[in-house]
Amino acid sequence: MFKTETLSNNTILITGGGSGLGLSMAKKFASLGANVAICGRTEEKLKRATAEIREAALADTGSEIDETKKKNTQDNERQSGSKEPKFRYYVADVRDFDRVYEMVNQVTEDFGSMEGLVNNAAGNFLCASEDLSPGGFKAVVDIVLQGTFNCTHAFGNYLIGQKKTGNILNIVVTYAERTGSAFVLPSACSKAGVLTMTRSLAYEWATYGIRLNAIAPGPFPTEGAWSRLIPSKKYEKKFLEKIPMRRYGEHEELANLAVFLMSDMAEYITGECVTIDGGEQLVAGQFNFIDQLMSRDKLKKMFKMMK
Ligand code: COA
Repeated sequence: MFKTETLSNNTILITGGGSGLGLSMAKKFASLGANVAICGRTEEKLKRATAEIREAALADTGSEIDETKKKNTQDNERQSGSKEPKFRYYVADVRDFDRVYEMVNQVTEDFGSMEGLVNNAAGNFLCASEDLSPGGFKAVVDIVLQGTFNCTHAFGNYLIGQKKTGNILNIVVTYAERTGSAFVLPSACSKAGVLTMTRSLAYEWATYGIRLNAIAPGPFPTEGAWSRLIPSKKYEKKFLEKIPMRRYGEHEELANLAVFLMSDMAEYITGECVTIDGGEQLVAGQFNFIDQLMSRDKLKKMFKMMK
């Protein structure tokens, strides 16, 4: 679907890019010519992820990159003058406003410019809301909502100051738009805030040529989310039954959507939130539950009798 140069001339920072969907997007961006910067709290994890990102890029453009250049990309050294995509990691907690500003400065210095930001870093856990502590609520709001603000503020000011255009993609969730969700109150509140931030700034910063869009994923298996949000096999089976397509999303599917929204192909799209959930959010349709009660054949017989 995409050419290997779809994202060339783009330096994109992905928060929480050391694992899960963040890493999947990072690899896809890298394989399509982008310079990729990732950030997170744990250096070891980021180091491993950076190696994986480099491998993904080499796998797609492998034969064109000679061994010397390959070696040059193997550490986190500055690679000035090279036309090959560069991959670097930054140890940073998105909750720390000053550190985020410092990181964006480092990225622009290391890569020469920055054109894209994906606010992907998140925190979530299951908890009955009456048992939530203020600290628990704050921990998630600080990562998801405040963290997105911090990164967006730093990157937005960089772009505005440099009179450059750029792109911001916020990863929200299907329950951000309308329903909210039980048992994940801090996440539901924060993601709804991020969606509102996306739309507010899409209007406010259109004048600077800055686009903001969001992706609302349904369930995509990741180690981080599954360990916190899927307590048992039985629960997982129920979870799957809610999805009309009866399968989870594949990382590649979300990464492809992210590429499209970050690329020049989506230049006239801003303030949009694209849902990618196999139809999960349609579960609210009034008669949708009927096909959960009996087989399609039995349903048809019943409908015939009712005719
Ligand atoms: N249930 C209820 N409260 C919880 C909790 C849980 N499962 N996990 C943490 N908390 C509370 C703690 O009790 C603490 O509150 P307190 O100060 O009132 O005691 C508060 O959250 C902060 O916990 P702490 O472990 O110090 O936070 P942290 O900043 O190290 O971690 C989290 C933040 C809690 C969001 C942690 O899960 C995290 O780092 N997540 C990142 C990865 C992630 O969640 N990925 C999944 C994305 S879908």
